[in-house]
Amino acid sequence: MPENDPSKTVAATRPVEPGTFDAVRRSLGNWYAVHRRDLPWRRTTDPYCIWASEVMLQQTQVKTVVPYYHRFLQRFPDVHALARARLQTVLKLWEGLGYYSRARNMHRCAGIVSGQMRGRFPESRSDWLALPGVGPYIASAVASISLGHCHAVVDGNVKRVLARLFCLDLPVNQTATHNVFQDLASRLLDRRNPGDHNQAVMELGALVCTPRQPRCGLCPVADACCALGADQVAAFPRRATRPRLPQRWWSVGAVEKNGKILLVQRPDNGLLGGLWELPGGPLEQGDNPAEACVRGIKETVNLTVSVEKRLVGVRHAYTHFKLHMDVFRCRWQSGRVYLRGPQAYRWIPWSKIHHFPLHGVVHKALTVLRQDPSLSAVL
Ligand code: ADE
Repeated sequence: MPENDPSKTVAATRPVEPGTFDAVRRSLGNWYAVHRRDLPWRRTTDPYCIWASEVMLQQTQVKTVVPYYHRFLQRFPDVHALARARLQTVLKLWEGLGYYSRARNMHRCAGIVSGQMRGRFPESRSDWLALPGVGPYIASAVASISLGHCHAVVDGNVKRVLARLFCLDLPVNQTATHNVFQDLASRLLDRRNPGDHNQAVMELGALVCTPRQPRCGLCPVADACCALGADQVAAFPRRATRPRLPQRWWSVGAVEKNGKILLVQRPDNGLLGGLWELPGGPLEQGDNPAEACVRGIKETVNLTVSVEKRLVGVRHAYTHFKLHMDVFRCRWQSGRVYLRGPQAYRWIPWSKIHHFPLHGVVHKALTVLRQDPSLSAVL
């Protein structure tokens, strides 16, 4: 069933000719049968594999996901293996994919499915939705692709395709417009083959109806495309301008003591939960980055350190803010580690830093540090 009554919201945007949905559905299906990429998760309907692939594909491009998907399934071939693994091992495998709450939630779900549900995955979209971290997109994707149930998925690719196909004059980056896209996607769904249909729309968005320089000459639904007919493809999808992301400044220290450096682990819940990083703190009004580093280290791990030199400055964009981070080489002066904030710590040689799941900005810093003559030999 469509999630809502589609006739109302669709009519509020622009009437769609009767027959258009049938024609688009048919052309899209034929095109997908020929042009679909041979992706590893398209060779199976196993719910575990489909779930893992769709979680990874949320927010991440296919070409980035493929090697992660292979490593993940090799290391955790089924839900029991994932449930038995330590969270740290899962996070290490996820390192570089970003949005780490996805990995933490998968690990929690695996515990539930493997234990309480005796290894049996849910058999309906609504039961999938009851699992931690499973939202409408994942639930619809797994229910349609793995179970063949009639639920339409809506992600960024789908929204772009629909916005152009139907000249939807609605910002795609506002949650208030989501239902309109969902309703249209549900009307367009091929109820005989919902899994392939959903993947076909996403595939069209990834290969043909791309954000920039779409290949309209190759598009199987060009005849039905409202934006192309009006020579307005570049005008869709509409986006609401968002306020600029707030900026944060942070200073961290590679604190050395007896040839080892200190790594700390973020609390499991919250941003980048469970990942490891260098200790430090925020820049406050009026202080300089080195002072912020010394103070942050004192406040979070209770060590007194001196700054030797600034190693590197890196920037990283998170969903809700932009981070500027300065990394200093520091020397331990006094004190024993007492944690206020981080949940764990280790003193490790520089050469072992890669054994820990680190987050993006720490990686960026390490990439630059490999070129530092004083560290290139050990990193
Ligand atoms: N993006 C999200 N899921 C996808 C899938 N199954 N195929 C291609 N792109 C996708």
